[in-house]
Amino acid sequence: MVAEFLTVATTDDIPVGDRVVVELGRHWVAIFNVDGKYYAIEDVCPHDDGPLAEGELDGCVIECPRHGAKFDISSGKLLAPPALVDVPAYPVRVEGGEIQIALR
Ligand code: FES
Repeated sequence: MVAEFLTVATTDDIPVGDRVVVELGRHWVAIFNVDGKYYAIEDVCPHDDGPLAEGELDGCVIECPRHGAKFDISSGKLLAPPALVDVPAYPVRVEGGEIQIALR
């Protein structure tokens, strides 16, 4: 099945180092701009629903503001507990200044 990309923001909305959270259907998605490259993950920590976009970002590593689990925002991979599983990460592309993501 071909992924359907949806426009969620423009590049002007998310300067380098910034992030936004958008609601897409039943998903809350956090979109980050790291040095001009965009990444999207579910904005819900799989440990206990912490709002990941409110955490500290170090490179591509986000630390959950609730209990400190760490994830790689480029892949969603879990890097540190207390979470036990990865967070969903979504493909991102930029088309004519529009940031688009695919929920798969
Ligand atoms: S809710 Fe994220 S580490 Fe607990």
